[in-house]
Amino acid sequence: MQSSKVTVHLNILAENIAALREKLSPDCQIMFVVKSDAYGHGIGPVARRAAEVGVNWFAVAYLEEALEVREAAPEAEILVLGPVSGEEIPGCIHHRITPVIVGADHARELSEAAAGHTLNAHIKVDTGMGRLGIVEGCADDELDTIFGQSNLHITGICSHLAAVDLKRPWLQEKQHERFVNAYTRAEKIAGRRLLRHFCSSRGVQYYPEWDHDLVRPGILLYGYGCTDPRMRVQTRPFLTMTSRLMQVKDVPEAYPIGYYSSYRTTRDTQIGVVGMGYADGYLRAMSNRGEALVKGQRTSVVGRISMNWITLDLGPDTGCKAGDEVVLIGEQGGESIWADRLGRQAGTIAYEILTAIHPRIPRVYAG
Ligand SMILES: Cc1ncc(COP(=O)(O)O)c(C=O)c1O
Repeated sequence: MQSSKVTVHLNILAENIAALREKLSPDCQIMFVVKSDAYGHGIGPVARRAAEVGVNWFAVAYLEEALEVREAAPEAEILVLGPVSGEEIPGCIHHRITPVIVGADHARELSEAAAGHTLNAHIKVDTGMGRLGIVEGCADDELDTIFGQSNLHITGICSHLAAVDLKRPWLQEKQHERFVNAYTRAEKIAGRRLLRHFCSSRGVQYYPEWDHDLVRPGILLYGYGCTDPRMRVQTRPFLTMTSRLMQVKDVPEAYPIGYYSSYRTTRDTQIGVVGMGYADGYLRAMSNRGEALVKGQRTSVVGRISMNWITLDLGPDTGCKAGDEVVLIGEQGGESIWADRLGRQAGTIAYEILTAIHPRIPRVYAG
């Protein structure tokens, strides 16, 4: 029996959107990044609620995701951040989805595929991420080619920050300078203003002067990336993950726990076995490191995480029994465990903790 579930509190998402909105100028819109199943929260319900509270732009990685957003938000603008292929262009046109153009060859391919139609697209500029997009500074010919494509109508231009490093601010400053050069040149060729967007969450927090026409946050709207209360935007996480104790048993001191006995009890204690494992997306790196909340108490994950079970050292005489709720991400009794904390314990980031949660775990939507 599936004992685990993810609960997504959509009212908190609405509050997070309002908290960001309040800090932006009225001319700046939110482009909410909902790729990877809305960072594990569920793309359809998240996009639907965001659209209901006024978000008009969404960003995804693939066309398939864009189609899910289109169902949830029929009127919204949707940008695909990854390069779509020519074969996907009929789908983009039919569903009013905007691709990015990552180079001159890509522009030719998409224009050809759009024959007989006009395809709106945004140019993606590589200003220092070294990933997708035309390389700023070497791109003049490419820009001419892109604007020369008869079936493309370029409506926007964007770039992505590789870092917002407070100790080395010149990294992001150089990127922004390149972005300004790129849109200045592109708008000169176009002879009109383009929609400009540059900042993901950390950029939004630290560089309000770089908001441009759209900001493109993901993690901030999922409640992370605002650890310092002095930061510009404060949001709250709204995905909780719970499971249940499958067995509680008394064991003596020095009792071996889990594969290869990587943990031995340090006293007579109770071990609780939780119905979740690495196959559910609870990272094996949490072995002997993670924590869970049971009866409002913080307890330690002990032994190696196995495919379907986690072992907790509950302590002696806890009164816990099989069936009790275990909070793996969330709050209970004034204690909390959020994905950024788990990320630190597992040597990774909140993004990976959230997107690793297996789609098999049922999502329940509250609020
Ligand atoms: C191009 C692009 N823009 C925006 C984002 C959102 O980033 P964040 O979740 O850090 O706000 C991402 C996320 O990976 C991205 O790839």
